[in-house]
Amino acid sequence: MREKFYPESEQILFTNREIELETLDFYLEEFLNGIKENVCIFGLRRIGKTILIREFVKRHSEIKSIYLNFEFLFSVPIELSQNFILESAKWFFDKELEIYDLVALPGGEVVKRLLRELEKGESSKTVVIKLAFEYLRELGKEEKIVVFMDEFQEILKLKNYRDLRNILGIFREYINDENILFVISGSFPHIMRDMIANGESPIYNQFKELKLDYFEKESAYELISKVIECGEESKRLIYQLSGGHPFYIVSIAKRTKLIHRIYELSINPTTIKRAFLIETLYPEGGIYKHSSYLLNTVLSLAKYKAPLIGILNTLLKEDGLTQSEIAKKIKVSQGEARLYISELERLDILNRIEDRYYIEDKVFKMWLDLRKTGELGENPKDKPMEIYLKILERRYLRAKTELGKAKESEIREKLRDKFGIEFKPYLEKGIEFDGVGINNKYVNILEVKWKNKPADLRDIKKFLEKVEKSEFSTEKKRLLFVSKSGFTPSALKFANSNGIEVLDNNLKRYEK
Ligand SMILES: Nc1ncnc2c1ncn2[C@@H]1O[C@H](COP(=O)(O)OP(=O)(O)O)[C@@H](O)[C@H]1O
Ligand SMILES: [Mg+2]
Repeated sequence: MREKFYPESEQILFTNREIELETLDFYLEEFLNGIKENVCIFGLRRIGKTILIREFVKRHSEIKSIYLNFEFLFSVPIELSQNFILESAKWFFDKELEIYDLVALPGGEVVKRLLRELEKGESSKTVVIKLAFEYLRELGKEEKIVVFMDEFQEILKLKNYRDLRNILGIFREYINDENILFVISGSFPHIMRDMIANGESPIYNQFKELKLDYFEKESAYELISKVIECGEESKRLIYQLSGGHPFYIVSIAKRTKLIHRIYELSINPTTIKRAFLIETLYPEGGIYKHSSYLLNTVLSLAKYKAPLIGILNTLLKEDGLTQSEIAKKIKVSQGEARLYISELERLDILNRIEDRYYIEDKVFKMWLDLRKTGELGENPKDKPMEIYLKILERRYLRAKTELGKAKESEIREKLRDKFGIEFKPYLEKGIEFDGVGINNKYVNILEVKWKNKPADLRDIKKFLEKVEKSEFSTEKKRLLFVSKSGFTPSALKFANSNGIEVLDNNLKRYEK
């Protein structure tokens, strides 16, 4: 049962998520001590929610677990209730059972009531759904259980039935049992958060939040190493292409391994770029499937489909526009633009930083952009692949670093004129700074971000971490951070409280 749930091949790859596992351990311990707090895990699709649950269940064989995935449980309420009960029983009794087998087991009374209700010509949807939760309650009386409800947002589909419009209110009646710890998990962070953190929701304030994010560099490198052997440069490229999204990391690394075998391509950056293109642009590629699924889901959930495509196409040409710029480009009023944009934000397709909008998932963005371009050929060594490689490099890989380098040296010169300090690029023991200049007072360390997005908290923290790891950690220092597009408020606050000087694109002190 548990073996099938979490195959060995997946266990081997599991990386990081230590803090999240410890957090879940904490809530489990509290639960066992009689202080229960339900948990809500959320994060983008394929960021690693289910695998986290699997790992947790594996590590806690001492406690009864029930795992329900709402994505696969139902299309109609009656089906949901039956499947819900069957799955719960399978986990609880640790074997496959038929609905009639359950009558004689703990919770059997509830099953009898369900069967009776179903025999009626028109069974009540409310009753049927309540019985499913009732069943869990009965199992909980036998023994403490952790109940995982994955892709929980799917439950909202039940709202289409008039009797079940208040499905969350129904759920609310069951979530305070002392013997059941509920861990819900879902793929649309905005929608999930709206369920548990919006005062109007029946389950407001009933769940502790646990958010899953992209991997940082160390974890990404570790995961890559579990799939293929490759050098630092290759790892950096996979990290860059994937943005630290674990599913993308695994997809690119596995495809690289495969084409390395089959086509005898050596494992180097060019092969990795080919692997990325295959994964992203061939319909059989994992990233392709994921991206087209994402687009279809978004379009099926969205009320306004045509303008959404319009906005995405606009941002493909130029990311980081304001609402009024978007309104102008797609020729709609401000009000309409706000409506469409907020829908895309709610579906986690767009991300707002200050007042500008960006496509959240960079790989999805590349897929949207490149899939229209034409034929790829069958072999990664084919001609069309070369064309795509050039596009990829030109549009998504090269611009960033080369422009960055030119700009950095220009900034170093200007800083020399302004402060009288000679900054030099620095690279020692894997630690890179855009400039280091030593004068008789301090070590001056420079970081430059020359992108169309404001530098965020993560950027500043990374800089500080680098400094702390470097040979300068104990020296007297002056830290300078230059950002072309300003800073987010949280970044600014963090910089101020850590004595980092923030400069704008004219090297003036950044003022908001
Ligand atoms: N912590 C992790 N360690 C290793 N691989 C991971 C991790 N998180 C995600 N992955 C990879 O991404 C895939 C998708 O993860 P999954 O848990 O199914 O995502 P979600 O449930 O959030 O949609 C996994 O099958 C695995 O290949
Ligand atoms: Mg999942």
